Formats: sequence, structure tokens, C-alpha cells
Amino acid sequence: MGTRLRIHKLTTKKQASDACAYLVCKQIIDKPSSVLGFATGGTMEPVYKSLVAEYKQRKLSFAESVAFSLDEYVGLAPEHPQSFAYYLQKRLYQHIDIPKQSIYFPKGDIATDDIAQQYQQNLDKYGPIDIQLLGIGVNAHIAFNEPGSDFNSLCRLVQLSTSTLTSNAKYFESNTMQASKGITMGIGSILKAKHIVLLAVGQSKAEAIRDMICNEQSLSCPASALQSHPNVDVLLDKDAASLLS
Ligand code: GLP
Repeated sequence: MGTRLRIHKLTTKKQASDACAYLVCKQIIDKPSSVLGFATGGTMEPVYKSLVAEYKQRKLSFAESVAFSLDEYVGLAPEHPQSFAYYLQKRLYQHIDIPKQSIYFPKGDIATDDIAQQYQQNLDKYGPIDIQLLGIGVNAHIAFNEPGSDFNSLCRLVQLSTSTLTSNAKYFESNTMQASKGITMGIGSILKAKHIVLLAVGQSKAEAIRDMICNEQSLSCPASALQSHPNVDVLLDKDAASLLS
């Protein structure tokens, strides 16, 4: 059982995402030179909105921090509007004072096994990550670690599952080709972080959240790997927590 996971059941999506942004603010105030791990996806959009607002209001600084992306679509250049690099640039990096050279992300357009290995080497060089944000897939993937992923896996190229392709199709315009492969931090890479914050909102995540928290660890539920980590906060809205007793 995932007894070590700290579960926070909040009422609204806004409360859950504000709580997530607050934990990043706290981290950067406590340690300005923090190594930060950022996730993407619809879930994280209000988090970055809240984080940017807090940054401006509290006059925080990311000048000494280093940031790493969790994953990227293979084939998409950082300038591609559906790339995760573009997402983080537009929603976060361009609004804060983090130096350009302190932003790390895997380049999807040149992604190879060697590029994945280099990304892992950079993570190991600057890491461990002080705070890693995570979303969760409806199939309980974390980053692009699909069911069946090894819990010790490191950065690598992966084939996206049908479930993920279906869930993420909404982010691609109908006339653009959807990427079918990802370059991702492995589960082992994620577990090296000192503090992990997983945010899930909405009914569509309720089953994945129940399996992650209530079931034994299993390769079929990648997020259940987090049960082994000593410092995980799970932030949920009412809907995502609806299958927890
Ligand atoms: C994507 C990303 C994950 C993200 C998840 C949830 O495929 N690779 O890092 O956490 O799916 O996305 P969303 O928040 O849009 O539901």
C-alpha cells in the first residue's frame, strides 16, 4: 500500500493547482539555486499561471535556478506550437528571470538514443532535482513512461500507447500530424528527485489515482513506482479523488 504518499484532497481544480504552484514558490524561496523539474499537459496550465502571478507579486527570482523538462514529442522542434519546449517557454520561462542557458529540454526534432543519454547525463550533472512536478495519464503513465516501463528506466525514446495518443489528440490541430513517439525521463530518473509533486484533476484521472495509491506496485501502473519514494505530495481535486475511500 502507498502509505508513504502524502495525499491532499482539495475541493477545486484551482485549489489543487494553486497548492502545486505554492510548493514551487516555497522551494525557490528556501533554495534560490534549486533544480526544478517541470511537467506539461492541460493539468499544469493553471499551475504556471498561478506561479507566474506569484513570481510577479512576491518578486521571486529564478535567476539562480536550473530547469529540466520531463519529456517531449519526437519529431517536434522546440519552436513547434505543440512541443513541450514551446509550451514551457510560452507559459513559464518567458515570464520569469531564469537564464536561457539554465533551461534544459530534450530536442524532439533531433531526438536519438544518444540525445536521450546526454539528457540523462545533464540531469545527473545538475541533479538531483529538488522538486519535480508530475501530471498523470489516464493509463497512469508519468512523463511518457507507459504501462510496462521498468521502474529503473532512465531517459530514452518510447512509443506512445494508444491511450496516450487518444488523450493527447486534442492538443494537435486536425491538420497537423500527431507525434507517436516520445523522449522522456525514465521512472528511475524521476525517482532520483528529492521531492515529487503529482497533480491530478478531473474525473478522467480518478481510476489512475486509485490504482496508484490503493493497489500494490505494478508495472501496469507506472505511477505506482512513486510508492517507493520517501517524499511525494499528491494533490487532487474532488473529482480525481472520487474513487478513494
Ligand atoms: C502527457 C504528458 C505527461 C502529462 C500527462 C497528462 O502525455 N507526457 O507528462 O502529465 O500526459 O496530461 P494532461 O494534464 O493533459 O491530462
